[in-house]
Amino acid sequence: MRSVNIGIIGLGTVGGGVVRLIQRHHDDYVEHYGIDLQIKRACSRNDAEAKNLGIADIFTTNWQDVTSDPTIDIVIELIGGEHPATEIFEDSFAHGKHVVSANKALLGRHVEHLAKLANSHGVQIKCEAAAAGGIPVVSALEHDLVGNEILTIAGIMNGTTNYILSRMANEGLGFDEVLADAQRLGYAEADPTADVDGFDAASKIAILASIGFRTRVNTDDVFMQGIRNVSATDIEMARQFGYAIKLLAIARNTESGVDVRVHPTMIPATHQLASVSGAMNAVFIVGDAVGETMFYGAGAGSFPTASAVVGDVMSLADHIAHGKEIIPESEPFGHNLAIRDIA
Ligand code: HSE
Repeated sequence: MRSVNIGIIGLGTVGGGVVRLIQRHHDDYVEHYGIDLQIKRACSRNDAEAKNLGIADIFTTNWQDVTSDPTIDIVIELIGGEHPATEIFEDSFAHGKHVVSANKALLGRHVEHLAKLANSHGVQIKCEAAAAGGIPVVSALEHDLVGNEILTIAGIMNGTTNYILSRMANEGLGFDEVLADAQRLGYAEADPTADVDGFDAASKIAILASIGFRTRVNTDDVFMQGIRNVSATDIEMARQFGYAIKLLAIARNTESGVDVRVHPTMIPATHQLASVSGAMNAVFIVGDAVGETMFYGAGAGSFPTASAVVGDVMSLADHIAHGKEIIPESEPFGHNLAIRDIA
């Protein structure tokens, strides 16, 4: 059996989860899928997590040791941000490796460049973990709903803001007070801008709209309004009229173009999205054949996000291990896209 060799860059919360899941499921993958997944190299700033995971022998601090290793088939990029993540993608492609990534900030802005480059090298980018963490919504749009024209993708795609709005609603607290508490508990980052001002959700809906609508939506095209100005009074007034306030990311495929936005939205209290509370995510997709569907789950966290990464790895590994042709243009950003107008 040919092994499928993995290099992982980033051994933080998600990277540690990925290594643990691959270690846990290795024998099952061999027995039931005929796939022998081997982690060949692991890169991080220091070796503390590699030691915890029992992989100190394959540890490096230099990401190029991973991207240039001739034995590696798939690079997993989990460092986030634009640099050196961009260079990691580029160098991996140049060495003929597929890239699995959770990097919404990078993919939301630069997917066109990266997808073209991947296609030109005959490799793929896979990014289930980049939108709504553990919820398999990229794969749903890419594969399971392919019998549809996708009309709407809408949802709660940022757990931090949903946690803040839920506590404001349930406890009548103000935004600043809950944010400080969320930071203390580790839900919100020390710099909460990407979450509370809508950038994180905008990156995710840009990725999902690009896949679902067969177009390119850049994060910078997304109208964005965060939750800093939502007050406890706004939430209470909405409640009295039968509504909940949620930060929704919404993409619509309209006759005049693609309409993509992120903003606080009043949702009827009877709608399923209104009952999504705490740090959870939910994505509502409407297709012309299937009608309404909704996907619910954890949008962040070690094992939920790692679950999505490992799904992508196994999807590629199935092709590599069994000699199936990988058609770079087939997914998830490789479509021969007609660029549509942004409404
Ligand atoms: N910070 C994000 C959230 C998780 O709160 O949902 C990673 O995208």
